[in-house]
Amino acid sequence: MDIAFLLNGESVTLANVDPTRTTLDWLRDTQGLTGTKEGCNEGDCGACTVIVADDQGTKAVNACILFLGQINGKSLTTVEGLSKGDDLHPVQQSMIGLHGSQCGFCTPGFIMSLAAAHHNGDDNHDDVLAGNLCRCTGYAPIIRAAKDAAQRTPDQPFDPLPKNMPEAASAKDAARPETVDQLAQALMMSPHATLVAGATDVGLWATKALRDLNPVIFLSGVKDLRDVQITDDAMRIGAGVTLETLRRVIAPYHPHFAEMLRRFASVQVRNVATIGGNIANGSPIGDTPPALIALDATLHLRRDTQTRAIALKDFFIDYGKQDRPPGEFVEAVSFKRQPDRLRIYKLSKRFDQDISAALGAFNIATEAGVVTNARIAFGGMAGTPKRAAHVEDALTGQPWNLDTIHAALPAFAKDFQPMSDMRASAEYRLKAAQNLLLRYWHEDQGLATSVLEVQS
Ligand SMILES: Cc1cc2nc3c(=O)[nH]c(=O)nc-3n(C[C@H](O)[C@H](O)[C@H](O)COP(=O)(O)OP(=O)(O)OC[C@H]3O[C@@H](n4cnc5c(N)ncnc54)[C@H](O)[C@@H]3O)c2cc1C
Ligand code: FES
Ligand code: FES
Repeated sequence: MDIAFLLNGESVTLANVDPTRTTLDWLRDTQGLTGTKEGCNEGDCGACTVIVADDQGTKAVNACILFLGQINGKSLTTVEGLSKGDDLHPVQQSMIGLHGSQCGFCTPGFIMSLAAAHHNGDDNHDDVLAGNLCRCTGYAPIIRAAKDAAQRTPDQPFDPLPKNMPEAASAKDAARPETVDQLAQALMMSPHATLVAGATDVGLWATKALRDLNPVIFLSGVKDLRDVQITDDAMRIGAGVTLETLRRVIAPYHPHFAEMLRRFASVQVRNVATIGGNIANGSPIGDTPPALIALDATLHLRRDTQTRAIALKDFFIDYGKQDRPPGEFVEAVSFKRQPDRLRIYKLSKRFDQDISAALGAFNIATEAGVVTNARIAFGGMAGTPKRAAHVEDALTGQPWNLDTIHAALPAFAKDFQPMSDMRASAEYRLKAAQNLLLRYWHEDQGLATSVLEVQS
């Protein structure tokens, strides 16, 4: 594949590159740009954070799971390109002045996350740095440096998206469709190609499982997949919408959904990870499917010129098995506009950037004190994201009171026979799921719950 992009403001054209070579490897091995560090090589530690800018904005991204094919037509800034000669960027000055670095291994990654946030005017430093790990300095001096830097502007403006953007190379390439029609055709020609959206799952297949993913089809250029349509009746979210965009879009309608997304991975991951990827991978611990099932979402699929819509809950057939034949792709997910009764509880060992041990999504409607509609779905409790149909039945038509809740609790064992693994035991999962229903009811009554809610 041929690609063209800007690297620290300079045009780069590469011919016949492996599209799934990671940007981190390319920077370090061929360019000697070793300021971008390799820590985990799986998106967890942020040591490899770089800034990618395009018409969608300026974003911090993990270079270790960013394929070269994903930076075609974009502007890439590494830590080497941040300062202008001796003129350090304010976040660099503040990190030095306020002792934000000891061994320094994590520091370039922190600097790049903070520089992207500084550029975007994002001063929620705890969230911004949730994807950057430091083993020795401790976060207090780094946050102090971030706050200090936020007060100042660079002497030499940092421009992550210079005017001299290159034309993306071979835009008509079948591996880089730009419309949904082109994507449908490309996939019919190569039905077993690996679809790459944000590569936050797929990237690990390359870096950890050492799989050859070719042929690949990159989805990030397909503009129609990035559409969000909000009408009086429904909300339709294109498969290519990133989770960071979704977090902002959905906040006014379902704030608990947005809050859950704040804890979904990290800014670097959410900046590229898509809703389509989170659904299509069929993971039993994917965080958005239970939330969407609780909203009674519909999945829109397309194969060639044929489209179909199915209830999202029916997409997940079994562990690792989804209702999607070769050649078909996820186009969008939609759900009806509805009063916000949605609460989502993510249970994980760590507040930020952790995979759920279990995630419960509750959407229970009542009228005159009686449950009229209950939609409850869980991740981490079965081989797929799954509805709690027996619990829903036990609640529906009953008075919305504590007796009903207690009477419904045994139904959890009919819906779920969870497994024990390194994240949680089966017993913990079942008990916690039951307790989440109790919590939902108490919160709905405005009653205090004795939950240790960790806040960042
Ligand atoms: C550090 C880290 C933390 C994470 N934390 C979380 C977390 O908290 N919660 C969570 O749920 N997940 C988490 N993930 C997993 C991952 O980020 C999500 O599953 C993400 O939504 C995947 O989206 P993507 O666009 O990156 O998908 P990709 O990696 O590009 O693709 C994933 C799968 O979906 C397929 N695919 C993508 N788009 C389509 C489409 N439109 N049609 C059909 N198939 C498609 C791909 O072929 C592939 O099989 C984490 C990952 C990392 C690396
Ligand atoms: S090396 Fe750890 S996130 Fe990339
Ligand atoms: S300064 Fe050593 S890991 Fe952060």
